[in-house]
Amino acid sequence: MRIDGQGFRTIWPHQDGLRVHIIDQTRLPHRFEIATLASVDDAAITIRDMRVRGAPLIGATAAYGMALAMQLDASDAHLASAAALLAATRPTAINLAWALAQMRLVLVPLPPHGRAAAAWQRAAEIADEDVAQNSAIGDHGLALFAALQAKKSGGRINVLTHCNAGWLATVDWGTATAAIYKAHDAGIDVHVYVDETRPRNQGAALTAWELGHHGVPHTVIVDNAGGHLMQQGLIDLCIVGTDRTTAQGDVCNKIGTYLKALAAFDTGVPFYVAAPSPSIDFAIADGAHVPIEMRSPNEVSYVWGETDAGTVERVRVTPRGSPAQNPAFDVTPARLVTGLITERGIVAAERGALARMFPERV
Ligand code: MRU
Repeated sequence: MRIDGQGFRTIWPHQDGLRVHIIDQTRLPHRFEIATLASVDDAAITIRDMRVRGAPLIGATAAYGMALAMQLDASDAHLASAAALLAATRPTAINLAWALAQMRLVLVPLPPHGRAAAAWQRAAEIADEDVAQNSAIGDHGLALFAALQAKKSGGRINVLTHCNAGWLATVDWGTATAAIYKAHDAGIDVHVYVDETRPRNQGAALTAWELGHHGVPHTVIVDNAGGHLMQQGLIDLCIVGTDRTTAQGDVCNKIGTYLKALAAFDTGVPFYVAAPSPSIDFAIADGAHVPIEMRSPNEVSYVWGETDAGTVERVRVTPRGSPAQNPAFDVTPARLVTGLITERGIVAAERGALARMFPERV
């Protein structure tokens, strides 16, 4: 995607071929800063502290983390410890385990002297595959927008999205936003309601930022406004991302997704999930088995923001002494999902349909 006219991915190798660049998402929307990762420890800290986040980008960063590890020490022991370090950074997005499994598949059979070059190559492929998958998801989603446009006789299409499933959450395009960008670029009148997504505000801080830079009309709303807007008939469809979708189509995504899906179900608004295949966990059937990340209560008690004077500051929003709790994801049961938009097409959130679409994974 483009920032002030310059094309960017969210992660890319440094020209020295020894380091990796990322966009530091903890600084957005107030500052656009590029950071450099030089070691597997850097990669692990970057994922854990959410300088990169979003399931597909977490996977790509882990893959590059393995490349950084292999160029330092390509022994069996270091391969195993680097993979374990990265795997422990965040528990919910399955793309992390998927990417590490992909890297191990290539690296384990190789002699140590061949591992660094192979790791850099496979990491680059994983990044490229992510871009291609999201672009294909965008094409399939675009068909939904085109159908809606025809139904509304060219009137504005209002989309509700949650969290950031945009290009910042992936290597490029985004999952949920891919169709939005493609529809906007095709001249379809799309407007996005962006819910803020407390506590870390990925919607308000990141989705709004990237839609704004692309010129997509959007409005930020508080998380609690989504149901009301749906009741008022102001939302044509919801599209969200996923951190892990199970074999039967239960969707684990950012906390609050379930409430949006319930409201959509009650009001008859189509609720789609953009799900690239690496985010589908065919080893788990029931969403109840997905590990839900518990994050620091401080993310609830404090918020970051920019003052009118231009300084970025953290302020407390709860009384001192009030405990807070911070589950980071929830599970939307398959029955509330209208369809999963995958790179191979739109599929029902249902075990048989998913298995038919991805037979090699079951
Ligand atoms: O905790 P995060 O910011 O890594 O969570 C990411 C999300 O839940 C995204 O909204 C997204 O839906 C999944 S990744 C495209």
